[in-house]
Amino acid sequence: MLIDFIAGARPNFIKIAPLIKVLEKFKLSKIKYRLVHTGQHFDHNMSQIFFNQLKIPMPDINLNAGSGTQSEQTSKIMIKYEKLLNKNKSNLCIVVGDVNSTMACTIVAKKMGISVAHVEAGIRSGDMTMPEEINRIVTDSISDYFFTTSNVATNNLIKSGINKSNIFFVGNTMIDTLLEHKKNFYLPKMFFKNKLIKNKYIVLTLHRPSNVDKLNKIEKILNNIIMFSDDIKIVFPVHPRTNKILKNINYDKSKVILSEPMSYFEFNCLVENSKGVITDSGGITEETTIMNIPCITLRDTTERPETVSIGTNVLVGSDFSLLKKNILKMIHGNWKQGRRPKYWDGKTSNRIINIILNKLKID
Ligand code: UD1
Repeated sequence: MLIDFIAGARPNFIKIAPLIKVLEKFKLSKIKYRLVHTGQHFDHNMSQIFFNQLKIPMPDINLNAGSGTQSEQTSKIMIKYEKLLNKNKSNLCIVVGDVNSTMACTIVAKKMGISVAHVEAGIRSGDMTMPEEINRIVTDSISDYFFTTSNVATNNLIKSGINKSNIFFVGNTMIDTLLEHKKNFYLPKMFFKNKLIKNKYIVLTLHRPSNVDKLNKIEKILNNIIMFSDDIKIVFPVHPRTNKILKNINYDKSKVILSEPMSYFEFNCLVENSKGVITDSGGITEETTIMNIPCITLRDTTERPETVSIGTNVLVGSDFSLLKKNILKMIHGNWKQGRRPKYWDGKTSNRIINIILNKLKID
């Protein structure tokens, strides 16, 4: 049997790493796998550094799809993955998360009669303006097997008509990676260069098109955060998408420490030692929940409701009075305690690989 693992963008690498590691442990002669990198993310700091730190084997194939509009990027990945499958067809395609690479490869594999297993299936924000929500719905509507991070996600799938026997509530592979590598975390050089003090700074990340593609929106967000956070420094590792617009924004530069996108070990160490995080990422809200670090999300919805109901996450959307109230709470250490969602225990990849090898019917 030949299994394809698909990974294209930064969060995919974090989710796929423990799956490959567990599969390799079995050393099964009957099972071969290929790691297919779509090339959606290509900068060293967005891709290769994750392979190095998380010891992910070099991709067997890089489709080098690169950037483009939603449709350009998706179609480039589809054309190139179809060519690969035409040369050498796999028996199972494993996709993770909700990025364009996830949806593109799912469509191609299914149309070629290959079974698809979706890891992190069933999560829904209900916000159809997010490209990820469309990717999730399309991927889940044609996948064969569904590995979920929560009961809410499982129920979303059941409600959409998916057969219960193909849904497996297994937990979160992103947390497998976090727990496995916690011991390797280290502070970035910029922490010392800027004389940062533990628990005296906030980490900021922004990359959602709805927050960063319009100049006046990101300018407002940044200036409000600066205004409300008093003398607490803001550390802002800047995503390439955000970097394009940041140069044109007016803000008090003495309050914000900008950096390149950080490696996994450095970023999570910075978060672990911070007062809290302000973000529009989904994955970070899961990591802060496990690290018990306060997290403010600059979105109206989340596809990960357990990070709010059980974890340390609070949604403020674009309500700046709510943002102010929560930044003040964060600064004064007046935050709710997070608990660990079920099965976010570092053993999710074991469960998934066991199910794939023992339960699924794949030709
Ligand atoms: C993608 C995912 C998003 C995920 C995020 C994590 C989709 C629809 N979006 O968003 O769900 O949370 O990755 O980072 O799949 N760029 C570079 N270098 C790189 C990668 C990107 O310069 O290595 C630039 C591109 O040229 C592009 C922009 O950043 O202009 C956005 O990249 P893209 O992959 O389209 O989407 P992300 O915003 O990264």
